[in-house]
Amino acid sequence: MFAALNRKRRFSSFNLRILAHCAQILRRVRTGGLTNLASTIESIKINAISLEKRGNRLMWIKRRQLGSGVTAVFANLFFFLVRARIHLWINLEKWQSWEVACFRLLYGRSLQVFPEGGRTVCVDMVPGKNLREWVIESTFAIQAIRAAGKELRRAHGLWSSKLEDYWSHSDPHLENLLYDSESDQARLIDFELIHDKSVPALKRHADDLLVFLQDLMSCVSAEQWVPYSLALIEAYDDPLVLAEVRRRLIVPRGWSAIWWKLRTDYVDWRVMIERIETLNTALSMKNHEWTRIETANARE
Ligand SMILES: Nc1ncnc2c1ncn2[C@@H]1O[C@H](COP(=O)(O)OP(=O)(O)O)[C@@H](O)[C@H]1O
Ligand SMILES: [Mg+2]
Repeated sequence: MFAALNRKRRFSSFNLRILAHCAQILRRVRTGGLTNLASTIESIKINAISLEKRGNRLMWIKRRQLGSGVTAVFANLFFFLVRARIHLWINLEKWQSWEVACFRLLYGRSLQVFPEGGRTVCVDMVPGKNLREWVIESTFAIQAIRAAGKELRRAHGLWSSKLEDYWSHSDPHLENLLYDSESDQARLIDFELIHDKSVPALKRHADDLLVFLQDLMSCVSAEQWVPYSLALIEAYDDPLVLAEVRRRLIVPRGWSAIWWKLRTDYVDWRVMIERIETLNTALSMKNHEWTRIETANARE
């Protein structure tokens, strides 16, 4: 019996060590990019990103680091443990082909994208600043969030032959959406992660909205939280996906709590609970309003 107990204890402390390690990796992967050059020096990153010339165009060059496969295996193990239902591509060719296919599916000929060698993808510069910057600056935050909601809805309506279902991003946090105020257009970038194919589109789409909301939670004030969240949900405008988001807008427990902690960038637990509650209340009130509008429209 003692042996069994010891085994169990060793197993759980090993598990916790993997989790701590993976959590660290994940934070670093997520917050990477040129803007965080200083912190990337001491961090384990899956990709190196740089702006380089290809022919006469300046392009973003995303290169998988040597040894990134090991990081990806640990990250995937972590995703499995927290039941995130997403994974990183371990096979480099499959990763390159997914990044290229996503850019082409979403933006067609308007954006040049191609694989280069065995571990690199080159993409045209997408105009604009990322949503986190717009939200922090706050002047055009609502417009940027609305554009992001519309873009997610449009992208979710595209058929993916690889998923054999409607497309989803799986990691549309604020830095993976760029908003161009001149054209009032938001665009998605960074197709590093992919949802498990077995997850139905409705759940994957709700997951994408939730990822955005969780990240938003980490960088807005209490006053901004509800109007900014509603701006996304109203622009996205799909009652079925919203119902699925609401089912998951509950105080997380167990593995899901660890996942929420990561996704909200370690926001204080009480703040997280309060924001889940205030958004739920606002959505219930809005629900009455939306139903009234729908009934009035149906009568006309
Ligand atoms: N095509 C692009 N257009 C504009 N900025 C880009 C583009 N690709 C990457 N970036 C910039 O580099 C950062 C990191 O690139 P990303 O593809 O998101 O990789 P990571 O997996 O490191 O997050 C982005 O947040 C963005 O600032
Ligand atoms: Mg990114």
